[in-house]
Order: sequence, then C-alpha cells, then structure tokens
Amino acid sequence: MSATRGTKALTPPEIVARKGRTPLVCLTAYTTPIAQLVDPHCDVVLVGDSVGMVLHGLPSTLGVTLEMMIMHGQAVRRGLERALMVVDMPFGSYEQSPGQAFDNAARVMAQTGCAAVKLEGGESMAETIRFLAARGVPVMAHVGLTPQAVNALGGYRVQGRGDEADRIRRDAVAVAEAGAFAVVLEKIPEVLAQRITQEIAIPTIGIGASPACDGQILVVDDMLGLFGAFRPKFVKRYAELGEAASAAIAAYSHDVRERRFPAAEHVFGDEPKT
Ligand code: KIV
Repeated sequence: MSATRGTKALTPPEIVARKGRTPLVCLTAYTTPIAQLVDPHCDVVLVGDSVGMVLHGLPSTLGVTLEMMIMHGQAVRRGLERALMVVDMPFGSYEQSPGQAFDNAARVMAQTGCAAVKLEGGESMAETIRFLAARGVPVMAHVGLTPQAVNALGGYRVQGRGDEADRIRRDAVAVAEAGAFAVVLEKIPEVLAQRITQEIAIPTIGIGASPACDGQILVVDDMLGLFGAFRPKFVKRYAELGEAASAAIAAYSHDVRERRFPAAEHVFGDEPKT
C-alpha cells in the first residue's frame, strides 16, 4: 500500500491558512464509495473512531482497535484525491506516553497514507502533541465532549457550561500551543466556541459547537440518515437514506415472493467481456 497521497491533496498548512476565511467543510468516511462521494465537497475527511458505533454496532468508541482504524483508513484512502485525510487514534493507542503515540501514529500514517492523525484530550495531551508535531506527525486535537472519555464524563452531555468553560478554553489553548494544526470542539456552548475561535491561531472545527467555529464536521451516516441507533440533536439530516434503503429492500422482498423478476433470457448478454 502506497504511503503517499497525490499532489492535489490539501495539506495541514493549507488547512491552517484557512483560519478565519471560508469555513472548512469536514465529514467522516469509513469506506471507499463514501470517500469518493464526499471528496469533491470536503476539505478534510476524517476516518473517525465513530466507525465502531456506526459500522460495527459497538456501544461506544472504546472497543475500536488500531487494526480497525488502519483497515478503514486504507479503504478511505482509495477513494480520496483532494481532501486532507485524517485518521483517529483509537482509545488506548496513544495515552500511555508520547513514545507509544508516535509508534502507533507512524504505523497509521505508513499503512494508510493519511496526512494526519486525530487524538482526544486537552492539557493532558499537550506534551504528546508537541512530541508528535516535532517528529513530522500533524495532529488534529479534539476537546470538549471527548467520546473516548464517556465513562469518566458520565455520558455524552454538553461540556463547558458554567465553571467548566475555562477548563475547556485552557484545553484548546494548550493543544494549539503544543502544535496541533486544528482542533475539533465537540458539544460546547456557542459563546465558548466563539471565544476559543478568536483566541487560538489554528482552525476550530465544530460538531454541536455552533457556527462560530472555523469549520464544521459531522458523522456522514448521521447527516445522511443512515445511522439510527443514536441521534444527536445538533445533527441536521440532509437525507433519509435509511428509510429509502428500507423501502427498497421491502420492494425487493415483495418482488421475490411474487416471482416478479425478468425472465433469465432477457438479462443474459450483459456480462463483462473477458
Ligand atoms: O469519531 C468521529 O467521527 C469524530 C468526529 C465526529 C469529530 O471524532
């Protein structure tokens, strides 16, 4: 598997240069066909560890492994030409030490061809981000609601209300100063997102964090109406593909039971030539 991207692909410095300019369009992708669909419209495509919940039916992102991220990263890589590709570091693959984070991030980059990795955490991860950035690993940080800490946080609730606001602000400042090239702000109030966006020099990418951010990201299956197990209030659905697929499968089932299929001789002859 090639570890390099085409020359047309956006780079982390180009993403940084978009700070305060045209908002950054970001989506997740986990497969080649979805990567091909989102690439022409997106600046950043994230192979998120949300893949565990969305495609593998896991109850949280905690069970996602490095091998899963690498396999989905390789699939997404085959579908991208223009967008910057970022792969999530899964729970347990980077928190122990900067050295552990570097070894695993290097493996992800070498085996998927992604240009950057994302990891969750603020002040507590600043040393690791500095270590990675100094060794050629561009890092997208993620503060506010950090789903890998769902147990410690007591659920997927809004972060940064009241006294918590300053802690989230310090987290964002710490990751920016440590050398992250962008930071995801998840599920925080608009006033806080606005303050952080004004204060730090790198782009903020919001998810449930208001239009005050420098860009937005959504889980692609959420915005397409393909993932029904969990529906965050901030997600606008741009399509109801789950309902459309269900109706199509029901129509197929009906046709099979009613024997409503073209006779075999009418469909022969369209096989690819060998
Ligand atoms: O895993 C994920 O998909 C994410 C984003 C939604 C930010 O972390």
